[in-house]
Amino acid sequence: MILIFAPMATLSHEAFRRLIHRFGGCSEYYTEMIHASSLNTNGRFEKYYLLNGPEPHKIVWQLTDSAEKPIVEAVSRVQTLGGIGIDLNMGCSAPAIYKLGAGISWMLKDRKETQSLVRSVRTQMDSSAEGCKRLSVKMRLGEESFTMEDLCSFADMLIGEGVNRLVLHPRTKRQNYGRPAQWKYVEQLASYIRAKHGTAVSVIGNGDISDRKSLEEKMKTAPSADGFMIGRSAVQKPWLFAELENSLSFTADLYELFCFFSDALDEFQPPEFRETRMRRFLAYYCNNFSFSHHLRTKLLKSFNISYQKEVFLSYFESQKSEQYIRIEKKTDIDTL
Ligand SMILES: Cc1cc2nc3c(=O)[nH]c(=O)nc-3n(C[C@H](O)[C@H](O)[C@H](O)COP(=O)(O)O)c2cc1C
Repeated sequence: MILIFAPMATLSHEAFRRLIHRFGGCSEYYTEMIHASSLNTNGRFEKYYLLNGPEPHKIVWQLTDSAEKPIVEAVSRVQTLGGIGIDLNMGCSAPAIYKLGAGISWMLKDRKETQSLVRSVRTQMDSSAEGCKRLSVKMRLGEESFTMEDLCSFADMLIGEGVNRLVLHPRTKRQNYGRPAQWKYVEQLASYIRAKHGTAVSVIGNGDISDRKSLEEKMKTAPSADGFMIGRSAVQKPWLFAELENSLSFTADLYELFCFFSDALDEFQPPEFRETRMRRFLAYYCNNFSFSHHLRTKLLKSFNISYQKEVFLSYFESQKSEQYIRIEKKTDIDTL
């Protein structure tokens, strides 16, 4: 079973990957989107985006920008850093990204422009004997008026230019997380690709996987998918991949995990990023607790680490049973 950690700005960095790794890791780790132009100009913080631990061989570098040239240059830079491959972000629909002409804009602009980008990226990747060779594209369904025919022809174009992996987050440009991801489209795309391109191209589904039950539902809806990508729920439960793999029983100590993550932020992120990274992490991590809103509000009052540790400790004083989560290996279910 291929289970992948999703690219998420401010979350998919080495400090967080180390937390997942504590529980045995996952199949692949996409990085948060790396802005190609900033990387190429050797911005002050770029070295942090290029950290590839703790399992460098499982890294997929996700790049974003609005133009071909900086992306191709960035490819030449990250390609030599190893890992599985490079991913082009064609799915991000955050207004700030979309308005720049990046993210999902690549699905919507003149097809020739996107085709040229992919062709140039593939040529760049093939020009060196070294380095990662898998090229993927992460995308959404497109505009609200998209048709499956459009999506499949877009996928054909990408594959024709050398893309070997498609990741589909089956929501349209405007759909937010309030509505469920539409996994029937993952199945439609994956079965189309399988019939037309065989096994040379893999299709990964992404969206709303939060536990074994939801994964099984997605597997049922999209049996042709080659793997599954998980974002927000893996931040809430860094042990989620281990839980889904069902290969061992373990106990997660949620206080100790918070302390570990905090130390990892100090080690693998610049001090200037500490607050934004911690804030985003807590937005999901606090969902583990029954008084999540109250706890989160308290934690966000100060980013002083002694203060935050104190807040957690006093929370666990009153909610003792919530500090530990026991995951039992189940013997009565099939291995995924
Ligand atoms: C905070 C946040 C940041 C994200 N950043 C990116 C990103 O950098 N690149 C990308 O392709 N998708 C990004 N996404 C989308 C996720 O990769 C994923 O498609 C989405 O969260 C749905 O998966 P989930 O339901 O498992 O969270 C982001 C999502 C969130 C919540």
